[in-house]
Amino acid sequence: MTPADTGLPALVGVIGGGRMGAGIAHAFLGLGSVVRIVDADDAATAAAHRRVRDLVQSSADRGALESPVEELTARLDSTTSYDGLAECDLVVEAVPEDLELKHRVLDRLGRSARPDAVLASNTSSFSITALGERVGGRHRFLGLHFFNPVPSSDLVEVVVGRETDPGIVELAQTWVEALGKAAVTVADSPGFATSRLGLALGLEAIRMVEEGVAPAQDIDTAMELGYKHPVGPLRLTDIVGLDVRLGVADYLTEQLGERFRPPQLLRDKVAAGELGRKTGNGFHDW
Ligand SMILES: NC(=O)c1ccc[n+]([C@@H]2O[C@H](COP(=O)([O-])OP(=O)(O)OC[C@H]3O[C@@H](n4cnc5c(N)ncnc54)[C@H](O)[C@@H]3O)[C@@H](O)[C@H]2O)c1
Repeated sequence: MTPADTGLPALVGVIGGGRMGAGIAHAFLGLGSVVRIVDADDAATAAAHRRVRDLVQSSADRGALESPVEELTARLDSTTSYDGLAECDLVVEAVPEDLELKHRVLDRLGRSARPDAVLASNTSSFSITALGERVGGRHRFLGLHFFNPVPSSDLVEVVVGRETDPGIVELAQTWVEALGKAAVTVADSPGFATSRLGLALGLEAIRMVEEGVAPAQDIDTAMELGYKHPVGPLRLTDIVGLDVRLGVADYLTEQLGERFRPPQLLRDKVAAGELGRKTGNGFHDW
């Protein structure tokens, strides 16, 4: 049986095959879809292809694949051209969280996609209703907010724009569940449910370090053992990236007000290049 026979997307496009895009591509390969990644240039395209292959291989190593690795990777294609997106049933945009870049990419997607395709963004914070304007057809656009790392995360936040068609929302929820993940459906608002609440906790934890209330390690341990959080707010900030969190905090301050104003310590660390796990230092050493 092919994905199309079961109402699943037979051909899925992913724009931006980085950390999240590769994870999303890997997830849909597991569902039986043909997946086409579009990235910025040849080097990025090759890197995206490798990233997805590595994810498929590690699923196989864990015994989590029902089909041979080659069967999945044969359904993966990566390119710099938007032409191939014209056949896709679903396209998920996963380029970096930069509003101008997302606008450029979505403008192109709107011109390339089939009129009845479902179009989605993996944005962590931007307004889905506003992004939907760029693809010409807000009724078929929604947020599919996957979590990092995609293969081991059980959640996708389905973000409903003001004009998203309820039928499209239902279809997306079905697809998310077919991926073996839970869908929580939220109305479009800055930061949705997860980024907004996660950031509120993270920013307060940074203020507490700044004020000398306790060192980062103790604040994390308090939340991990006291409140059963799997990862403390400062370790999570390191994992997400301090620069990413600063960008979202600036955006939420603009949209929701002063309570999201980033602490000076966060700005200082980003300016010093201490971005968390990816640079080896942040609130912890990695
Ligand atoms: N990393 C996380 O923890 C996380 C979690 C949830 C959501 N998100 C969101 O997912 C999106 C992607 O984040 P990421 O961490 O995967 O970023 P990333 O930097 O790892 O990957 C971005 C990819 O987009 C590609 N790209 C850049 N410009 C492009 C263009 N013009 N056309 C096509 N591809 C282009 C890059 O080459 C790269 O492959 C962002 O919106 C982010 O907010 C990230």
